[in-house]
Amino acid sequence: MIYPIDQIRSDFPILTRHVNKQKLIYLDSAASAQKPNTVINCESNYYRQGYAAVHRGIHTLSSEATDRMEQVRIQVSRFINATSADEIIFTKGTTEGINLVANSWGRHFTQSGDNIIITEMEHHSNIVPWQMLAQEKNLTLRYIPLLPNGTLDIDRLSSLVDKRTRLFAITQVSNVLGTVTPLTSLISIVRSSSDALVLIDGAQGVMHKKVNVQALDCDFYVFSGHKLYGPSGIGILYGRKMLLDSMPPWEGGGSMIRSVTLKFGTTFSRIPTRFEAGSPNTAGIIGLGAAIDYIEQIGLDNIQVYENRLMCYALQTLRQVPELILYGPEERIGVIAFNFHHHHAYDVGSFLDQYGIAIRTGHLCAMPLMAYFKVPSMCRASLAIYTNYDDIDCLVTGLLRIHRLLKL
Ligand SMILES: Cc1ncc(COP(=O)(O)O)c(C=O)c1O
Repeated sequence: MIYPIDQIRSDFPILTRHVNKQKLIYLDSAASAQKPNTVINCESNYYRQGYAAVHRGIHTLSSEATDRMEQVRIQVSRFINATSADEIIFTKGTTEGINLVANSWGRHFTQSGDNIIITEMEHHSNIVPWQMLAQEKNLTLRYIPLLPNGTLDIDRLSSLVDKRTRLFAITQVSNVLGTVTPLTSLISIVRSSSDALVLIDGAQGVMHKKVNVQALDCDFYVFSGHKLYGPSGIGILYGRKMLLDSMPPWEGGGSMIRSVTLKFGTTFSRIPTRFEAGSPNTAGIIGLGAAIDYIEQIGLDNIQVYENRLMCYALQTLRQVPELILYGPEERIGVIAFNFHHHHAYDVGSFLDQYGIAIRTGHLCAMPLMAYFKVPSMCRASLAIYTNYDDIDCLVTGLLRIHRLLKL
């Protein structure tokens, strides 16, 4: 199939913008992806013609909005092959999904002396909630170490896991290195030596490859809508039904109760609403549904083939830039982190911005990984369904220009 890149690009209105009098080259989709017309229109039409509070009203608008929201729950469950829509919890994003698990499951089901295994390449969202929990419950955090080529030292896992391992929480794809973690083999090592649960941070995976939570054999899977071409402020926590059933709520309020009395306290609703206190982000949920429709229309298999080819081209051409250090393995997805010898990432990012090129700079929410590579910051360019070869050529030209300017 010929990948319809021009058609796809025309679906994203922001791509016609100019920045600093230059054509916009948007290479920061791993931080947040741009939105196609279908998502923008779906959200705005909902506000124009369909908006109402959900779950709370007998009137037509309210029940229509509730139906649309519940329809997206079913759609998400099919998108990641969950067994039931009850396994899908709407959150604000990946961060909130992980915090939900830490605060509900973690506080309830771990004990002093237990341990949790993560990796040295996690985003802060998959480190800090576990550090907070470990401090509160006197748990130990163990880390699968990184290797200099940006992959994990997976042989170390068997010596980290034991009968007191309660959770293995790992990213599907590194947001810095693009490394695709070998989930199948890692999960089978964990399962063979412990009863630990498995949480996968899918924030950088779900937009690049088809996800099947049953085949992955995970207990939790989390991702954010805004990286999947959907609205911001909406995300998903998938959890196995039996597990979610056993977990207490972590936030209290409206929508998550069965009954509230002043004398006898509160009883809680069933899953998934038990974990969705307060008024939900219905526009975000409905927009996420439109984003999934859009992705599925292109087809994740087609996306993967196209993005792989583009990634090979990007790595090959970036290697022609003198003094440029590339981090991460050859085989990767989505992101390319780099630095110029002796120059701060912010300087490089600012120059590129002058040329209309948007990349991410800084510690990339992965300070332990920066410490491993002994740098304070990195530049990161990321690829998305609308990135084309010209974008990559512009990045390379921009970097060559910076190299000349800074007389490296
Ligand atoms: C791997 C990974 N995990 C978690 C997150 C946090 O996502 P959010 O800020 O949408 O909650 C990100 C965001 O960059 C990420 O890349």
